[in-house]
Amino acid sequence: MMDGRVTGVRSIELGVRDLRKSAEFYSKVWALEEVAAAADAVHFRGTGGEHHLLTLRERPKPSLLGVNFATTDRAAVDQLCAKARSYGIKVAGEPAPLPAAAGGGYGFRFETPEGQPMSISSDGAQHPNVVLDRSRPTKISHVVLNSGHADNSMAFFIDVLGFRHSDSTHMMEFLRCSSDHHSIAIFRDSGPSLNHVAYELPNIDGLMRGTGRLKRNGFDIEWGVGRHGPGNNVFSYFIEPDGFVAEYTTELDQIDEATYVPQDAAYWDKMVPVRGDRWGTAGPPSNRMRFAMSGGLYLGTEPPENLRCEDVIGRKLG
Ligand SMILES: [Fe+2]
Repeated sequence: MMDGRVTGVRSIELGVRDLRKSAEFYSKVWALEEVAAAADAVHFRGTGGEHHLLTLRERPKPSLLGVNFATTDRAAVDQLCAKARSYGIKVAGEPAPLPAAAGGGYGFRFETPEGQPMSISSDGAQHPNVVLDRSRPTKISHVVLNSGHADNSMAFFIDVLGFRHSDSTHMMEFLRCSSDHHSIAIFRDSGPSLNHVAYELPNIDGLMRGTGRLKRNGFDIEWGVGRHGPGNNVFSYFIEPDGFVAEYTTELDQIDEATYVPQDAAYWDKMVPVRGDRWGTAGPPSNRMRFAMSGGLYLGTEPPENLRCEDVIGRKLG
């Protein structure tokens, strides 16, 4: 029997201070669609088939409440749960059926070795229809986590969840669990927090149209539009109402497992000499973006005076 492994990021779950305000941003500006709501939570779908790709819950402080991964079937869920337990991390209960109102399925919750909340599930509901609008997100592309112990975090994702290593830069490790070049990236930082969540758009025209919608609604491009080094994806970064960083991205490299060779920081230094951008159009990220990517905005910590990129997120952006 094959070992159970994670096959994708299904959804992200965020704690927000003002549920109504955040729900308005994610529906009207970010262009997701509300599919289910409960007393303190709203679920949003993209234009793809996944039941929802974002859950917002009202909380006193903004917080990362979960990165929810997909796997193939119930047997894989059970195997992954057993592996997580044997690794010695915190696992909340046995795998169990999930609430039908939130798309159902079968899964369990756990925390990474650094205490980041995650879950894995299978058999979640899929929408029979997909929506044809290239300016709107289809799915979660990737999640970048800040880590105070990046090597340990990477080992956890590879050994327990079945990720493969795609590339390294000075500050980041890129990990894949499907043909997408990365679904998780780990940023070398002083401690655990959420760096950003990237939503996939169908193509560059869609990304530009979505970016225009953000601008028309008063949200500046904090970094972009450009094309990254590792992953080769086009990017446009924004800061949402609770200080989380949200990215529109498209054209992420698709990996052929049989032939792919991971590259190291020296390769990417030579390949992409302009900070994190093959095109050279993006310019540097705004100071606010640098601070937000460190988790500082949503965690509510004060930015240091004379903030410089190097102080907060290191020398190289992936
Ligand atoms: Fe990204």
